[in-house]
Amino acid sequence: MEGLVVKDFGATYRGKRVLVTGHSGFKGSWLSLWLSSMGADVHGISLPPEYSPSHFSLLALDMQSHWLDIRHLETLQQTVARIDPEIIFHLAAQPLVRRSYRDPQTTWQTNLNGTINILESARNCSALKAVICITTDKCYENKEWHWGYRENDALGGHDPYSASKAAAEIAIASYRKAFFSAPQMPLLASARAGNVIGGGDWCEDRIIPDLVRAVSAGKSLEIRSPNATRPWQHVLECLYGYLLLGEKLLEGKTEFAEAWNFGPDASSNCTVAGILNGMKKYWPELAWFTSSANQPHEAGLLHLDSSKARLKLNWKPVWDLEKTLEKTAEWYSNFITAEKILSIQQLKEYQTALGHDSEKSF
Ligand SMILES: NC(=O)c1ccc[n+]([C@@H]2O[C@H](COP(=O)([O-])OP(=O)(O)OC[C@H]3O[C@@H](n4cnc5c(N)ncnc54)[C@H](O)[C@@H]3O)[C@@H](O)[C@H]2O)c1
Repeated sequence: MEGLVVKDFGATYRGKRVLVTGHSGFKGSWLSLWLSSMGADVHGISLPPEYSPSHFSLLALDMQSHWLDIRHLETLQQTVARIDPEIIFHLAAQPLVRRSYRDPQTTWQTNLNGTINILESARNCSALKAVICITTDKCYENKEWHWGYRENDALGGHDPYSASKAAAEIAIASYRKAFFSAPQMPLLASARAGNVIGGGDWCEDRIIPDLVRAVSAGKSLEIRSPNATRPWQHVLECLYGYLLLGEKLLEGKTEFAEAWNFGPDASSNCTVAGILNGMKKYWPELAWFTSSANQPHEAGLLHLDSSKARLKLNWKPVWDLEKTLEKTAEWYSNFITAEKILSIQQLKEYQTALGHDSEKSF
């Protein structure tokens, strides 16, 4: 990671001890990159990368990795105490809906108990000022309607992934009221983002990695729900929201210690078929067919209302769906043809779009 110096968020994260759980995953690796670029002292807690190649390994960041299971409270507490972070971004999870049907117990234990274990570990950290737990847009009770869900809408979830994240939200709200509202305690918030895409995701049963694998193998892509509508956004969009929220919490602003949606503009709510048609521009050979097999239930319509983040955090998406697809296709095409990752370059482009200064070229 030589030569990566990007100036943004002023001095908020420079030199800060930051713990990112799930740093070996898709979103966590991008967040670790962004934090490292700002001069933060980044520590990660995760399981070792599950996929090869992994975005995290390819980035080769200069940071401390602690490979452990967040379901094991004692080891987790000891490790977090040793790191003594000033802020925690908790992303580690079992994040896949279909896997959650195959293995509900691991999903619940990781997403609910793992979150509780993080909060327990956070209660005894002397330097800690802020904790942000990442849940999901799927934590709402899905009414299959066209309106976007707001932060005060009912929580729920049909599949084990969604329900375990909704349960994590309830646990987070309880910990906030019961323990984290006392003076000197860290401020605790949760963040709910949309369907995130971008380079470096290799997870199973996700549309972009599945598409890239199919195109690379010269195969037709099997899809399950072409008409399912999701709020698609580039990974950097929600991470920008998390960093803004972290800044407010680090400043000690108690009114920000609550739940936040970070979804795309309404124009980025699009069907799976719409995403595939958009991607055909970059991979004309892309072909797909709809699976005839019976599928476990997944939400059909899902939109987020992010007015609160726009109004109070001054956050807004800067890359529309077309740009998001372009940047995603660009990342994978480059990786496939030249075995190069464009993450640093794309982070810089995103920061330029935000209007943040880049101090020096990479
Ligand atoms: N990708 C999306 O579209 C999306 C959308 C909304 C919310 N989210 C949430 O964002 C977070 C990150 O998702 P992602 O897409 O990067 O997932 P990912 O699968 O790429 O990464 C998951 C990370 O969690 C870690 N992890 C899993 N089980 C663990 C355990 N028992 N102990 C320690 N670490 C463990 C993995 O090692 C990995 O680092 C998750 O909380 C997910 O629910 C993701």
